[in-house]
Formats: sequence, C-alpha cells, structure tokens
Amino acid sequence: MDSLSSEAEQYERIGTAVFQSSDDAVRLVAGSIARLIGERRAEGRTAVLGLATGSTPVKLYRELVRLHNDEGLSFANVVTFNLDEYYGLSPHHPESYRYFMQVQVFNHLDIPPENIHVPDGLVPRSEVFGYCQEYERKIVAAGGIDIQILGIGRSGHIGFNEPGSAVDSRTRMVALDRLTRRDAARDFRGEENVPAYAITMGVGTILEAKELVLLAWGESKAAILREAIEGPQIDTVPASFLQRHPNCRCYIDEAAARELTRFRSRWKVGPVDWTPLLIRKAIVSLASDLNKPVLRLRDEDYAENGLATLILETGSAYSLNIRVFNELQHTITGWPGGKPNADDSNRPVPAVPAQKRVLVFGPEPLDAELGMAGTLHRLRRHQHEVTFVYLTSGNLGMPDNEARMAISLLNELSADRPADSQGKSRLAQLTDELEKKAPFDEDSPALRQFKGVIRKAEARASCHVLGLDPSQVLFLDLPFYEKGRYRQFKSTDEDVTAIRQLCQRIQPHQIYLTGSGAEPGSVSGISFRLVVLALKECGLETWMKACQVWLYASGERPWSPHEIDMAVPLSPAELALKLDCLYHHRSQRSQTPFLGTQSGESWQQAENNNRSTAQHYDRLGLAEYEAIESFRRHKESEAV
Ligand code: GLP
Repeated sequence: MDSLSSEAEQYERIGTAVFQSSDDAVRLVAGSIARLIGERRAEGRTAVLGLATGSTPVKLYRELVRLHNDEGLSFANVVTFNLDEYYGLSPHHPESYRYFMQVQVFNHLDIPPENIHVPDGLVPRSEVFGYCQEYERKIVAAGGIDIQILGIGRSGHIGFNEPGSAVDSRTRMVALDRLTRRDAARDFRGEENVPAYAITMGVGTILEAKELVLLAWGESKAAILREAIEGPQIDTVPASFLQRHPNCRCYIDEAAARELTRFRSRWKVGPVDWTPLLIRKAIVSLASDLNKPVLRLRDEDYAENGLATLILETGSAYSLNIRVFNELQHTITGWPGGKPNADDSNRPVPAVPAQKRVLVFGPEPLDAELGMAGTLHRLRRHQHEVTFVYLTSGNLGMPDNEARMAISLLNELSADRPADSQGKSRLAQLTDELEKKAPFDEDSPALRQFKGVIRKAEARASCHVLGLDPSQVLFLDLPFYEKGRYRQFKSTDEDVTAIRQLCQRIQPHQIYLTGSGAEPGSVSGISFRLVVLALKECGLETWMKACQVWLYASGERPWSPHEIDMAVPLSPAELALKLDCLYHHRSQRSQTPFLGTQSGESWQQAENNNRSTAQHYDRLGLAEYEAIESFRRHKESEAV
C-alpha cells in the first residue's frame, strides 16, 4: 500500500493506491468484491458488478476464480454488466469481449447466465440506439452498478469512450481512436483487421456506478494516468472525468505511477531524503526544464525551481553541478563489455575478464534488437562470447500473408524436385487453412509452428547483420508462450527451469534483459519475471555473484539520463547497421504498439529514442553523439 503521506498526493485528484506488485492490488480489490457479494447474500440481495476487458483485469479475474474454487465464494447472487464490445464481432469471435469474458470469467464462476450482460456486437445498425437505451434500463432495473471495474486506454479512454466523449455521454456506438486501433493491432494481427466501431457504456453511465475502481499496470500507462489523475477534467482525456466521482479509486503499480508528481518530482510535494539518485534526478530535470547544460546551473536556478533545500542541505550549485556532471559522464562508454587494460574505477563495466560471456535475452524477436542491436554488434566486435536467446518465437503476432509468402517460396523450390509427399501435403494443408480462415482467426498448431519458423528465419537474418552466427542464436520456445495466447498466458516452473539451465550452462559475466516496467501479463513482463526468478535460483552460484545484470530499454519511451547507468553511443554507421538489422523483422511491421507515439514503425521509434537520448546528453552539456542505447543495472529489489 501507499507508503507516502497524503501530503505527497496533493496533486492527485483521484485517490490513488500504488502497489509494488499488481498481485497485491488485485487481492485487495477482489477482497472488497467478495465482501460486497457476501453482504448482499446475507441481505438476500444481488451484487451488481460492472466488468471490463483488456489485459489489465485478467489478474483480478484469476483471483476471483481462485476465491470461487479455493475459498468457496459463490457468485450465484451476482449480476454483471460489461462496459463494451467491438461492433461487428460475434460472441464466438476469439477477439470479441464476450468470448474474452467467457474464457476468463464466466466459464469458471456460478453466475446465472441470465444475470450476465455484455453488449451485443451484432445488433443491426438501425437497432443500435434502442438497444443501447435498453442496456441502460437493465442497469437501472438491476439497482445500478455497485462496483465498476475500469482499465484505461493509452488514448485516455474508459470503456471505449474515446477522446471527445462528453461527460454526460450514454451507452452508444462509437468510432475507435487511431491509437486504440494500433494498440489492438497485435491481437487482430494488423490494424486493418481491428473493428472500426464499438458499443460502449457512456462516461455518464459509468459515473453513475456507486463505486469505481480503476486498475492500471506498467509504464505504458504512466503518462495518461498522470493526465487523468492530476490534469484538468477535459474530454480529450475522458478518464479525467473520474475526478468527479465521490467514490473512485485507482489501484496501480509502481511502473504505472512513475509520472505522478510524488514519484516524478518527489521534492515538489514535501521534504525528501536527498539520496544520490534523487539528486541526480532533480538536477537532470532542472537542467532539462531550463534547457541549460548542467554545469551552467546557478544557485538562483535551484532556488527558483523548488530546489532551495537541496542547496541548503548539500552545498552550492557549483559542487552539485560538477558531481552530477561527472556521474553522467561516467555512464558513457563505448565498451559495454568493459575496456581491457583500462582503469575501470569510473566505468560501468569491469575491465576483467577481458573476454566476457554475455547472455542477451529477447522476450520476442525484435525486442532486444530494438533496445540494443548496436551494443550487441559492439560486444561481438570486441570479441566477447555472445549468446543471444529468444525466449519465445513470436509466432502469435504474424500476419497470414507472411505465411503465404513463405509457402509460395517453398512450393516454387519443390516444384522441380521429386515429390516429398509429406512436405507437400503439409504445405497443402497450410494453404488450405489460410484460404479458409479470416486474418484474425486463431491459427492451428501447425500454422503457428510454421509462422514461428518464419520469425526465427527473420531473427537469424537480423543477427547475421550484427555479426552473430547461427550457433550464437538460441530459441528457447518457452512453454508459457507456445501453449498460450495473448491475455491467457500461464507460466510454470518449466519456463523458469529452461532459463535457469541455460544460465547455468553459460555462466555469463553479463546478462541483458528487458521488461521491468512492462505490463505484467505481456510477453515482455512475463519474460522479465521468469528470468529474474531463474536468476534467483542461481543466486548462490559463484558465477552469479560476479555477473552484472543489465536492463535495456526496448521500444519504450527514451529513458532520461538520470535513469541510465550505461549509455552506449552509436556512430552514424552503427545506427544505420542497427536499422538494417531491424528491417529484417519484416513481419513485425506496424504490430508493436509504442509509448507516446500515434504512428510510425517500431524501428522509427527505436531510432528516434536512440537519437533523442543522445540529444538529451548533448543538451545537458555532455558529448554530442549521433545516437545512444540506454541500460540500467537491475536491482535485486525490483518487483517480479
Ligand atoms: C480496451 C477496452 C478498455 C480497456 C482498455 C485498456 O480497448 N475497451 O475497457 O480498459 O482498452 O486495455 P488493456 O487493459 O489491454 O491495456
């Protein structure tokens, strides 16, 4: 729960509880739902729940199912209303919200089917208005919603109330925002397959619920949460209207909370304990806000920008500036594997051993390349023993047309050969499936496997650009991914063991991974947790004690220099090589949603991030590089 006082929350216009892990948050929310159900049962009444879809509530639903299975919580007196549904999708469509609710919730609980309400995506267009009014009437007839669960979209939507939705809007048909469709592109294997319309409860409908619970995990939600929680009430951020509700609370994890003032600029909300890290953060943000190099900050700059206490407690601007400037400078290195025979007392990586064993984990193909292709290339060039491990094949996101292209290639190759009857009939089966299925239908295991093979081929080609030969590239095909699908992944010990055994075999001096701020149910978030668990299991082994674990920034916002422990500059030629490497993941076009970007390919975003980090270092008065890849040391305390 919150460890900070209410003084720290003075900018927050919605009560917000911040949790180290989303598990703790959902236990609390599930507990209050269970209490409500119990109280109502004792009174012989029903409890009315408003339910949401998306990745965010999945853990909450798992906890409710656990309470039902293990603790005998009955849902027989529960009535549910879902927020929204894609227009045009049947209840059986794997991406429909009705299907999601069946699989995640309804199939596992004893809610009477007649008590379940999810907007129907197939209502004829001419009947939508009346249907929506009827949906509202049913909510009123049920006694109104007692607890409404909400997620938040990166556009600021609640339900599907996109920017522009009025505070008094009611249940209706809406057109989806571009960012929302981009975010859903991965589920539908391409933005063009995402429905353009939806039916959603209105903002006004939502605000009538007796209690609102907004959940959010991962740093992709941090920026929009700040706007919703601390910004003005405005229809460009419909979630900001939640500020009007007398009984609304946000339950968010630390990654999602990072942009709230109490975390972003803690010194602005009360006295702070000035740790070296906080000093660095304050000075980098002061210099960035004033657009001044660190060494040119004056005492007045500190005093006029809420940092007078820092000067009082720690000395003059002069000494602070030099101290932080040096710290920042020491993060920069062109030797990510350590510089042999050099004094390493101020370098992020030790000089010995000169040749290191380096293990790089990529959750899905492309993630590690986006974050550290230039660094990978450098590590390889400096003769380190690099092993690049793809934890999953990424086969879930591949559009059918990529598979068609590969089949055509194979057909052509085998045309003049004696028939390999088995191979041919396999291809024929795949062709048949591709002819019959819609682009967003679930793939058969054979097609999934085939798509995985294509992703692996792309990955090998991209690694070749970096100088890695196929023996240095491993595919772990973790079972949680191969057996699962988005939002339904369930990892087990088997996944952890596969990673642990690999680490034990390689005994690396350096490990690179990503995903610490990712949504915990995403492939990146799950992969991060699995690697950390595996490393914990290796904790007592000798090699592990000397092993540095680095986090790389992958496809996220560019990190601010205060967060960076190692900045690896890229020359213009290295940046071009990185882009060449990224282009080889051609089946990933337009499929990876990125923070803060409404458009653009993932490689453009990576390039922009790397360039903007370099520009930031430059503006702070350090060196002027073309691009920089960013890393920070993984701390044991980071939540898994
Ligand atoms: C979806 C839903 C919302 C949900 C939001 C966030 O499109 N319509 O109800 O809260 O977008 O989704 P996620 O939880 O997957 O981030």
